[in-house]
Amino acid sequence: MADLFSLKNKIALVTGASRGLGRDMAVCLAEAGATVLCAGRSVKDLEATAKAITRKKGKAFVVPLDITDEKATVAQIRAVIRKHRRIDVLVNNAGVIHRENIVDTATPDFRKVIETDLIGQFVVSREVGRHMLAREYGRIVNISSVMAVLGRASVAGYVSAKHGLVGLTKNLAAEYGPHVTANAIAPGYIRTELNVPLQKNKEFGAMLEQRTAASRWGTPHDLRGALLLLASDAGAYITGHTLVVDGGLTTILA
Ligand SMILES: NC(=O)c1ccc[n+]([C@@H]2O[C@H](COP(=O)([O-])OP(=O)(O)OC[C@H]3O[C@@H](n4cnc5c(N)ncnc54)[C@H](OP(=O)(O)O)[C@@H]3O)[C@@H](O)[C@H]2O)c1
Repeated sequence: MADLFSLKNKIALVTGASRGLGRDMAVCLAEAGATVLCAGRSVKDLEATAKAITRKKGKAFVVPLDITDEKATVAQIRAVIRKHRRIDVLVNNAGVIHRENIVDTATPDFRKVIETDLIGQFVVSREVGRHMLAREYGRIVNISSVMAVLGRASVAGYVSAKHGLVGLTKNLAAEYGPHVTANAIAPGYIRTELNVPLQKNKEFGAMLEQRTAASRWGTPHDLRGALLLLASDAGAYITGHTLVVDGGLTTILA
């Protein structure tokens, strides 16, 4: 049964692998047998991720990548495919957030979130997708958020981009079948650098525990099952889907 979820001999590109959820997903994919291409802007941190993988006898490479720089991204993905011969799994995880009420938000701050959390995913999915289509194999996993299901004051750019990413996922599924699947994971609240202000907010923590069936914050490990399902052949007949992994947050009113 473990073979169903195996990524042995697969090559996986993970964006935003330098820390947080991306780092844990990179380690998880490597533990399932994949060679992991750890992509992002902070090379030192990517090297730490790669080291965490090689320490456990896995295989990893560092790929410097800023997904908001389209020209560089196109060139880097082509170079990666030339070097490694293929990308079997793409995890579009890189993301940023901007916290400010709409009336105070300057357009460039809104645009930066859309550029990273939506347009960057589009560019990477297009470039890697062409290659996957030609090879007739691929698994794309987009990391969206419960903010693709709900709205929340002060994060309009993020909510807009994450809703958009769910739409993009459906279109990737529509255009990339039958051999390439595209799905999204919508995580609930998981402690990382992205949400430090919320971790410090006791009221928010109490609200989260009260309205989440699991009664706790998530951990990066909580995403591993969903990731392996959608990245492996276990998920061959699942495409265009957004799998919410939030401890019940978005299905329970109170
Ligand atoms: N933590 C949560 O509760 C939660 C919940 C739902 C969804 N998510 C989503 O999960 C993903 C990871 O979030 P996280 O919590 O792990 O946040 P994080 O700790 O802040 O990590 C974000 C990652 O994205 C990378 N990144 C940002 N801009 C980039 C760019 N232009 N090009 C390439 N890489 C870039 C960062 O690397 P560099 O700075 O080194 O480039 C970093 O590795 C995000 O898409 C986020 O929206 C998180």
